[in-house]
Amino acid sequence: MINIGIIGTGAISRIHIDSYKKFSDKCSVVAICDTVKEKAELLCEEKGLDAKIYTDVNKMLEDETIDAISICLPPSLHSKFTILSLDAKKHVLCEKPMATSIEECDLMVDAVSRNKKILSIVSQNRYKDEITKVKQILDSGKLGKIHFANFNSLWWRSDIYYHLKYRGTWQSDNGGCTMNHSIHYIDLMIMLFGKPKSVRAYFNNLNHKNSECEDISIAIFEYEDKVITFNSSLLSHGEKQSITIDGENAGISIPWNVNASKTLANGFPLDDEEKAKEINDLYNSLDNLKYKEHDAQILHFLNAIENPANEYISQDDGKNTIEVVMALYKAAQEETRVNFPIEKDDPYYKKETMIGKMTRFNEKEIFLDSLPNIEISLGRDFSK
Ligand SMILES: NC(=O)c1ccc[n+]([C@@H]2O[C@H](COP(=O)([O-])OP(=O)(O)OC[C@H]3O[C@@H](n4cnc5c(N)ncnc54)[C@H](O)[C@@H]3O)[C@@H](O)[C@H]2O)c1
Repeated sequence: MINIGIIGTGAISRIHIDSYKKFSDKCSVVAICDTVKEKAELLCEEKGLDAKIYTDVNKMLEDETIDAISICLPPSLHSKFTILSLDAKKHVLCEKPMATSIEECDLMVDAVSRNKKILSIVSQNRYKDEITKVKQILDSGKLGKIHFANFNSLWWRSDIYYHLKYRGTWQSDNGGCTMNHSIHYIDLMIMLFGKPKSVRAYFNNLNHKNSECEDISIAIFEYEDKVITFNSSLLSHGEKQSITIDGENAGISIPWNVNASKTLANGFPLDDEEKAKEINDLYNSLDNLKYKEHDAQILHFLNAIENPANEYISQDDGKNTIEVVMALYKAAQEETRVNFPIEKDDPYYKKETMIGKMTRFNEKEIFLDSLPNIEISLGRDFSK
């Protein structure tokens, strides 16, 4: 039995606990920690947990019966508490974003190496039916060479979202919609196509007065043989998420659709119904996932603890997303094309030097300790 401790008892911890409970044959949540004791107590009561309550992470980490930790803390604390947990010989599941700089990611990677423990970074969108099916279709090669893809990570948050004290500053969040929301789709872009060669980008804050950071960004990622455009926003009603991928033989999209064209004598398109049917049949033949999103992420984490050879979303995956976000910010801020990798002597490698460069779009004036603990959405499903 794997004994789990949860650090941070806000909105996302509830999703972690619900998922751990689904695998009660493998694990049990035995400890909860929050600096605000009442929040931890309320969570235990709400979820019917018989767990020890802590207000000091260090005390909790002294408990040798705890095997693994879920980090459900604000982003600026991820690196520090992940490293403390790994050094206390615990496996760690850390919420996204992995950290607030590439340097912090590297320190976390070092802590994994010296402690030989599992570190998994949450990216639950990988475990969605549409995504796993599109990945299999890409891997099948049926689309031919991919030339162009477009990702739309379009969310909606009001200014109240940024009243919370740790949101909406470069220091605490280290970014707006790109770092905290599109990171899910940046991870998917890397999972489907690998890391780009370079990026050009634009960003701005158009309607979030209590945030220093961007509420819109638009990026062009260049690969050896393809280009990907990427739109991120917190201004978008209906939170429409979508991905479009065009290959030599056919184009597919999420929400699921397939089109194929063959050429007329004058170069104009003629529908290739046979090819479209072939790809559609393949999509329909693929199995749905048994476990999805956080449930699947947590099952993979538990399986990796049992046997590190099992596949899971690792520290390297988490670091890749942070590097792409930092490159995008550099490209937008410096109005230049940025090539990968971001080297250690680059000002965008370290948090403090990166922050020193960034435009503060607004002065944050409201700093509330907490917002009501009511249900949160984790980003719309692609198909809604
Ligand atoms: N995967 C997703 O789709 C998803 C969705 C929402 C949030 N998140 C991520 O989850 C993380 C937490 O978000 P949230 O919405 O639950 O935040 P939250 O503000 O609701 O909860 C954070 C909790 O951490 C506690 N805390 C702060 N400092 C602490 C410390 N030193 N020791 C112990 N407890 C401390 C706070 O009191 C609070 O209860 C963030 O990184 C966020 O990006 C991920």
